[in-house]
Amino acid sequence: MRIDVLSIFPAYLAPLDLSLVGKARTAGILDLRVHDLRDWTTDRHRTVDDTPFGGGAGMVMRPDVWGAAIDDVLGADERERPARLLVPTPSGEPLTQRTAEALAAEQHLVVACGRYEGIDARVAEHYGADERVRVSEFSLGDYVLNGGEVAALVLVEAVARLLPGVVGNPHSLVEESHGEAGLLEYPVYTKPPSWRGHDVPDVLLSGHHGRVERWRRDEALRRTVLRRPDMIAALDPDALDRTDLAVLEELGWVVVDGALVAR
Ligand code: ADE
Repeated sequence: MRIDVLSIFPAYLAPLDLSLVGKARTAGILDLRVHDLRDWTTDRHRTVDDTPFGGGAGMVMRPDVWGAAIDDVLGADERERPARLLVPTPSGEPLTQRTAEALAAEQHLVVACGRYEGIDARVAEHYGADERVRVSEFSLGDYVLNGGEVAALVLVEAVARLLPGVVGNPHSLVEESHGEAGLLEYPVYTKPPSWRGHDVPDVLLSGHHGRVERWRRDEALRRTVLRRPDMIAALDPDALDRTDLAVLEELGWVVVDGALVAR
């Protein structure tokens, strides 16, 4: 997969040389190219922004600079398989594991990191109408960052770890939070079995695979009820077994008209 990241602070993306993403780059699984947006400016001051039409606070990034940069990173063959233009912004759609999975199946991602009050809206409009590109504006969550660079780091890591060969044991992708089960992951423990008076639950030392699986499932349900009731409400009751339903009932969730609701 190829990913181009455009930013006025390319140094912000340096951590993508490290750890599993760094290894994926070295191994040739990920062709990640970080660019300085100012390389596409044409004036002596390398200007990327200007004051907003209509007035108001802050500065807006110029569409001409962005257009030149995006045109250059798009390849000639993008009509076959459109590139995805991803624009991090607090006004975007929430980034989820489903989004990361869909993006991991693409060939070419372009991440356009805005700063200040954002990028002139005509950039998304223009590439939205371009058959070489599919545009998505995405948000990390309901808070405001100073720019899109941290969101680009998050996006690249979330996508890169799903590429075949990046995570050593692909099985570890199956049970994790936000996986297929639609639950948060159960708590995990390692040695020593007793630490500062806190003991690892006996069942995990029992060697009884079936009981371990059931305990983990119950804990995943319990955690999700406490921390993410929205995820419980989104579960399909038909995908749950009788024990799941009994655990949920104990925690105050029952099935009404084919959906889980809090009592
Ligand atoms: N840029 C500024 N805030 C952001 C957020 N919450 N998500 C993505 N990009 C952003």
